[in-house]
Amino acid sequence: MPFRVSRTPTVRHYVMTPPTFFAVEYAINPWMDPTTAVDTHRALDQWDALRRTYKELGHTVELVEPVAGLPDMVYAANGGVLANGRAVVARFAYPQRAAESDAYAAWMTRHGYTAVHTRHVNEGQGDVLGAGRMLLAGHGFRTERRAHGEIAAAVGLPVVSLRLVDPRFYHLDTALAVLDDTTVAYYPPAFDAPSRRRLLALFPDAIEVADADAHVLGLNAVSDGHHVVLPAAARGFAAQLRTAGFSPVGVELSELLKGGGSVKCCTLEVHP
Ligand code: ARG
Repeated sequence: MPFRVSRTPTVRHYVMTPPTFFAVEYAINPWMDPTTAVDTHRALDQWDALRRTYKELGHTVELVEPVAGLPDMVYAANGGVLANGRAVVARFAYPQRAAESDAYAAWMTRHGYTAVHTRHVNEGQGDVLGAGRMLLAGHGFRTERRAHGEIAAAVGLPVVSLRLVDPRFYHLDTALAVLDDTTVAYYPPAFDAPSRRRLLALFPDAIEVADADAHVLGLNAVSDGHHVVLPAAARGFAAQLRTAGFSPVGVELSELLKGGGSVKCCTLEVHP
């Protein structure tokens, strides 16, 4: 009998934005090709299946009103960081997404938060992931290293900076998934050597995923501590999760992958 760790789910609070106006009209990451046709109805169906999956797992899902002309707004994770009762709103790297900040700040204000703005670029939970009582923060492509300290101060949690080096893994949430307070999964080649050493020291029993799983954005996953909702194509990673005592729940988000995002990108988590 292999040793099995028992994993405990906790009820989560997610914020999502429907892909009503989703399109691939510009290319700001290597996954995006504006000549590829996007089926918006299919995107909406796939997104709704993700939303229903969260509901069936017992989680709370709140919605942000999508805005016409902001095709990437479906990637709600980028809207900001919500943790410790505080809210930091995104400052986007590219002008095409800049106006999303106001929409997410308005949602935060309406929900009783004081939306903190950073001076430097921060793309929210695309690059800043809560792991227990600390934040893991990526830089190298979007969020600036200098924003990490601003976010740590605003949220009141320590931050561990990690440098991303492969343009296909341009946000931290494309290269690393937090599975519970002390467990992560990641794709080592997406990080520079000092960051890999830092991850090894912090998470000695981390799951390291293979190329094939990373390249279908398998790490763009959302965990409640037991169930891990992930792109269905990441079969090797799903098997690793099962071995580690988690329950993988595969979902199909092929239309949203055309914009360079998947499960986690579509999900902004409100961390208590
Ligand atoms: N097209 C979007 C961009 O390049 C995708 C964002 C994906 N979001 C994420 N959290 N990784 O900005």
